[in-house]
Amino acid sequence: MNYQQAYDKLEKNGQLHVLKYYEELKPEEKEALLSQVERLDFSMTSSCKHKEELTQKGKITPLSAMQLGEIKRRKDEFMSVGLEAVRAGKVGAVLLAGGMGTRLGSDAPKGVYNIGLTKEVFIFQRLIENLLDVVRQADAWIHLFVMTSDKNHEATTAFFKEKNYFGYRPEYITFFMQEMAPATDYEGKVYLEAKDRISTSPNGNGGWFSSMMKWGVVDKIHEAGIEWLNVFAVDNVLQRIADPCFVGATILTDSDVGAKVVRKNAPDERIGVMCLEDGRPSIVEYYELTEELMNAKDENGDPAYSFGVILNYLFREKALEEIVAKKLPLHIVEKKIPCLDEKGELIKPEEPNGYKYEQLVLDMIHELDSCLPYEVERNYEFAPIKNRTGIDSVESARELCKENGIEL
Ligand code: UTP
Repeated sequence: MNYQQAYDKLEKNGQLHVLKYYEELKPEEKEALLSQVERLDFSMTSSCKHKEELTQKGKITPLSAMQLGEIKRRKDEFMSVGLEAVRAGKVGAVLLAGGMGTRLGSDAPKGVYNIGLTKEVFIFQRLIENLLDVVRQADAWIHLFVMTSDKNHEATTAFFKEKNYFGYRPEYITFFMQEMAPATDYEGKVYLEAKDRISTSPNGNGGWFSSMMKWGVVDKIHEAGIEWLNVFAVDNVLQRIADPCFVGATILTDSDVGAKVVRKNAPDERIGVMCLEDGRPSIVEYYELTEELMNAKDENGDPAYSFGVILNYLFREKALEEIVAKKLPLHIVEKKIPCLDEKGELIKPEEPNGYKYEQLVLDMIHELDSCLPYEVERNYEFAPIKNRTGIDSVESARELCKENGIEL
């Protein structure tokens, strides 16, 4: 993109201040800035002025989950269909590892965090070991796709290489990068983090499938004959991936997506719950859950919204292709954004100073016609690491690993 084209794009989006230092820049810096302007989509930045309207929900009603009792009863049936699908190479796994993991407080990718006590046990290693369990059980390799971002791609790929992919076959691992979104002040003006660079952050975990398309990864999926994609978060060190029983249940119920859920441990637990929204599957975030919904009962007198999602979904690949062009709602989140001050010097704010713009995987569920909420035992499958200490932390995950006989 040349200067004039960049100027026009920025002017159209009310972001001309990005060129404030342009004349001072060296030729390669000028080029870097113009190329960043070319890559970035600025259209969302004006949305912050009406941000409350962006994520308004429709009419919420309960959606029942397939519970542990039924899963246990039908285990053989599910296992046989699921294992057959895995063996036939119809199941791929997608690790969402593009997040910044700011709550954990490390600059490195979250997956390289060592949760071991007497030996090294990295988060990525735990996930690979969980997947290897199924590889052994099915006696078949499973394609693993790892989404990174501009901020952690090099560090992530180098780490996997250095650790010899934790015993996974490298030809079954494909890395791809998600898009970045500009970060802005409260008026929607993008910040600069250097004179030749706009402040950006990963654009949320909702763009994973469109990024796979952009990177040509979907061609690989077609070639390999993959029909189901198990998307999962980097931070749950206990989760089962490409779990044959879950795969079988999703296939046999002819669902477009299966969502692993856990029974909430309290009505106000900070976890998104499964529901129907205007008659279609959906997820209400904990901060959107009204008192009324929290205490609502179903026809059996049980809590109506008691199953929370753990960010482990099995999507029918064809269904994703049908919805990929649809625009997911934008989530605008307050954040501390490092930026240049008036004098052109970098500051790292102590308090939030603007917004980041994200799309979320959970909003994809609402675009699909059918969803199977599938209950898993939380103490066996849910040990998320969001924080260093306290709830959903390194400490709580270590306890759960010990409970499950995992040596740390
Ligand atoms: P979180 O919501 O926990 O966000 O991500 P985060 O950025 O990792 O952590 P904090 O909020 O800064 O502490 C849930 C999952 O989605 C992935 C994360 O890597 C994690 O697996 N994710 C999140 C992405 O892949 N891309 C994103 O842009 C955001």
